[in-house]
Amino acid sequence: MATLATSDESTQAALADVPDDALTALLAREDDRRRRQVNLLAGENLESPGVLALLGSAFADKYAEGYPERRHHTGCGPADDVETLAVARAKKLFGADHANVQPYSGSIAMLAAAAALLRPGDAVLAMSLAHGGHLTHGSSANFSGRWFSVSAYGVRRSDGLIDLDQVRDQARARRPKVIVAGAISYPRVIDWEGFREIADEVGAYLVAGAAQTLGLSAAGVIPSPVPYADVVCGVTHKVLGGPRGGLILCTRDLAERVDRAVFPFVQGGPMVNQLAAKAYALGRAAAPAFREYAALTVANARHLAAELEGRGLRPLTGGTDTHLVTVDARGLGLTGREIERRCESAGLLLGHCAVPYEDVPPASASGLRMGTLSATTVGMGKPEMTEVADLIQAAAGNPDDSVTQRVQSLAQRFPSLSTKPQCGKSASS
Ligand SMILES: Cc1ncc(COP(=O)(O)O)c(C=O)c1O
Repeated sequence: MATLATSDESTQAALADVPDDALTALLAREDDRRRRQVNLLAGENLESPGVLALLGSAFADKYAEGYPERRHHTGCGPADDVETLAVARAKKLFGADHANVQPYSGSIAMLAAAAALLRPGDAVLAMSLAHGGHLTHGSSANFSGRWFSVSAYGVRRSDGLIDLDQVRDQARARRPKVIVAGAISYPRVIDWEGFREIADEVGAYLVAGAAQTLGLSAAGVIPSPVPYADVVCGVTHKVLGGPRGGLILCTRDLAERVDRAVFPFVQGGPMVNQLAAKAYALGRAAAPAFREYAALTVANARHLAAELEGRGLRPLTGGTDTHLVTVDARGLGLTGREIERRCESAGLLLGHCAVPYEDVPPASASGLRMGTLSATTVGMGKPEMTEVADLIQAAAGNPDDSVTQRVQSLAQRFPSLSTKPQCGKSASS
């Protein structure tokens, strides 16, 4: 895949027309940060130049409330065709009956799914946040926990895997209207068929919160939720390498409810530039190169998990089937938060996460969560994953300048930005 973002060239050239020293300086800082750091943040990938160009294209100005051929605004001919193209590509790529590509983000897609299927106060069963669930799966700080009666299922203490027996028992006891399957930091494949059986037994809708892994399913690298879930929520900016944004797939029966939930219930006009960039990424994902990328991403994650295990960082669930790697940091005698902080100061970006059944406050957290999307996009492979594992161990133990220099030299060998000289004005404020 073509990979490099080009903020230094195109954005700074555009800013040069109407200079803004403060923003030019901030952009230069961001470019500099990216040149020095190695990105292992689980949910970040790099947008290709084509995606960035479409985000900054004339489509950015267009208002197009509604759906193709049913707009509240005039002048929507090209916008209609952009959305129709994105929908057709999404349906084909994922094998879905219906696709809505308008959600501004993954969280908004989850909100729209809830709006389509639930009324305030309805019972929902979803993955515990402490065991890997997302904020939209029932956090009290989020619409999901505030507006619905959410109970949580978790993973088994013995192996860290989702316990479908527990899910079934809870579903029988709670009779939820919706069961949410999916997570933010669960590295294993999810048994969509098993969840479907449980949902059918208790008469619940099955919603797949598949933002992390839907792109891997599209590539055929892991099983897809589409044949099993009533509604699938995803994003285009993780595995797919597209623009920041959400999408919803659903059965034919629910198509109208989902569309009306997105607009006019949750959103106003779609961002047509985002729709164009989504269409572009969905088109690229149909190419063989995308399947190769997805497979390499998982191979890199498996290798990284194994290398970290050899350095005292036990992979949760024993390994990974996806781009996600989660490990227990207690083997190094530090909290996840502390290792995250030390790694950041050396230029290695990764995150902390809860270890199921741990007994430290969530702000500390005993685990580390990382992913191989960006690293694979810039061309890293297994040798670099071994190097990354070494660097994490070194940064956690002794975060001195030599570690920072090694991280920078790795980042410079695999740049995430074009290396052409910047053409914007230098800034003073
Ligand atoms: C499972 C899941 N749902 C929803 C989201 C939210 O997506 P966004 O950040 O685009 O709102 C994420 C993001 O990581 C996610 O992993």
